[in-house]
Amino acid sequence: MSLEPTLRSELSDDHPLLNGQRTLRSHLKAKWYRLDRLSRVVFTLFALTMGAAIVSRVLIEVLDPFDLWPGNSRITIPPKVDDGNKTARTDKERREAVRSAMQHAWEGYRQYAFGHDELRPVTNSSNDKWGGWGVTLIDALDTLYIMELHKEFNQGVTHAVNVDFSKASKGYTTPFFEMIIRSLAGLLTAYEMSLDRRLLEKAQQVGDALFPAFNTSSGIPYPRVDVNAGHAVPSSRVCLAEAGTVQLEYWKLSELTGNPKYHQAAQRVVDILDAAKKPYKGLYPIWIDIDSGEMNSGHITFGGQGDSWYEYMLKQHIYSGGATDQYRRMYEESIDSMKQKMVKRSVFDPKMYYVGDLDSSATRFSPKFQHLTCFVPGMLALGSKVLDRPDDLELAKQLTYTCFQMYNQTATGLGPEYVLFRDSKDMGLLSTNHDDDFAVVSLDKASDTEQADGYYLGYDKSYLLRPETVESLMILYRITGDKIYKEWGWQIFLDLEKWTKTDAAYSAYSDVTSTKRSSMLMDSMESFFLAETLKYLYLLFSPADYYSLDEYVFNTEAHPFKIMHRRNS
Ligand SMILES: *[C@@H]1O[C@H](CO)[C@@H](O)[C@H](O)[C@H]1NC(C)=O
Ligand SMILES: *[C@@H]1O[C@H](CO)[C@@H](O)[C@H](O)[C@H]1NC(C)=O
Ligand SMILES: *[C@@H]1O[C@H](CO)[C@@H](O)[C@H](O)[C@H]1NC(C)=O
Ligand SMILES: *[C@@H]1O[C@H](CO)[C@@H](O)[C@H](O)[C@H]1NC(C)=O
Repeated sequence: MSLEPTLRSELSDDHPLLNGQRTLRSHLKAKWYRLDRLSRVVFTLFALTMGAAIVSRVLIEVLDPFDLWPGNSRITIPPKVDDGNKTARTDKERREAVRSAMQHAWEGYRQYAFGHDELRPVTNSSNDKWGGWGVTLIDALDTLYIMELHKEFNQGVTHAVNVDFSKASKGYTTPFFEMIIRSLAGLLTAYEMSLDRRLLEKAQQVGDALFPAFNTSSGIPYPRVDVNAGHAVPSSRVCLAEAGTVQLEYWKLSELTGNPKYHQAAQRVVDILDAAKKPYKGLYPIWIDIDSGEMNSGHITFGGQGDSWYEYMLKQHIYSGGATDQYRRMYEESIDSMKQKMVKRSVFDPKMYYVGDLDSSATRFSPKFQHLTCFVPGMLALGSKVLDRPDDLELAKQLTYTCFQMYNQTATGLGPEYVLFRDSKDMGLLSTNHDDDFAVVSLDKASDTEQADGYYLGYDKSYLLRPETVESLMILYRITGDKIYKEWGWQIFLDLEKWTKTDAAYSAYSDVTSTKRSSMLMDSMESFFLAETLKYLYLLFSPADYYSLDEYVFNTEAHPFKIMHRRNS
């Protein structure tokens, strides 16, 4: 529409013909001069104050130097994530945000998978891949309790006390170790917290249902139990972590029921492995021959299949209040040998240390560093305090740095299942061959990215909502008091929110280097996300005496057991 200039000048300001024509500016100007002088002064002052507030807020965001905070390391992280609740800056707010994440995950589970093993968080369906005992629910109970989500805790308990753990899905054989660390432990701690006797009865039902695993010629347990038939599934071998990560749970069951048989059966495994011949002091190949109790095959690792065996030496020492010297000795032998033979430093980034694997003879080294191995810094820090080993704390800090870098250097800020470090400037391990992790390949000159990262990403770039890195951050914070670990944990939490959150809960992510979010969600949420990842994040932002490391020892699934002498004193 256009109007002749002459015509325009003849029309009054509010003539309908001019609607939509006048600029906003002249309109405001007219309004402005219609205000009296006092109103104009007041409005100007208000506008100036708002402007100053915005500018100073932006300056705080940009400069906010946590290196000015007392006791902090000099490393600073600029906020990296664009969404998520960045405004939460105090511990209290961050704790609240983690609690909301737990409520969200629980609510999805409650709505679409209640009583089943797992929620499928993209399709809102469920699975019973652990035999139908409702493992997510059991694993989540003590996290709900710790976060003071009492309504949700009671929903869970009401269901749990009616599950018949002497039965499993038809034809299913129950994995011994997994259900001890998740279900037995989850019920034991839910009982210790609430003192609801029904939970102890259920814990004992789980312990009894799985106890036939120990009925072997040597006493080394079978890896699976046919719960319905009441006996184990015969097998010639079992891996180290499966046989050696049930001791804390069965010991606690003996303590709470007064029946020593559980602890005795589990302790026998420790004694057999303690006496067994090893390729190197304190280092155990992962495969145990069940008939003979010998360990002759499989690699040596602090990652999957080996990991929690080493962890439980230290934790049994703590749990029993140093009742015998055996666990301390075994732990120290293992850690000393690990430091000697399995810890290396990146040739490209001298700040990055990592723990690799050894072959069964402890001679060949593989520079593969797994997400699962990121529990090691937390273990070392705990051991350094309890056993007065200050050097271990230094190594713990260095390894925690590497674990954080595995997150910080990806496009999503999530960490991959494992990375492969280069072993030397011109030799490296690039084997993507499952059969031989020790095949060393000669490489051309490293590219710039490889030099920057110090490692390669391997064939599995998924992030399965795993807890080990945030577990170590929580322990490192509590032991050193260095607030940088909270900042790193918060950054990881924001990236969890950004990439893995679904409408119903949280989902595993298939490639941490890809930002094509919708095609990366794996429609899976393991129970350890609720049992461990969210619990450790919550405790990271809680006061250090809340579920204190002096009073509790966390099982390998993050279930906090009361330390024995504490309970009796
Ligand atoms: C962000 O966190 C703060 C403090 O916990 C909370 O008050 C606020 O509502 C949150 N905002 C969003 C968008 O979640
Ligand atoms: C142990 O296994 C044997 C068979 O190998 C069986 O005869 C026996 O009843 C089992 N004992 C228990 C206590 O389950
Ligand atoms: C994390 O990554 C950012 C770049 O994405 C970098 O600026 C920062 O220094 C890294 N943090 C640490 C602790 O290395
Ligand atoms: C899953 O559940 C959430 C929350 O109830 C809902 O918003 C979403 O649309 C559901 N997704 C599907 C695929 O049904």
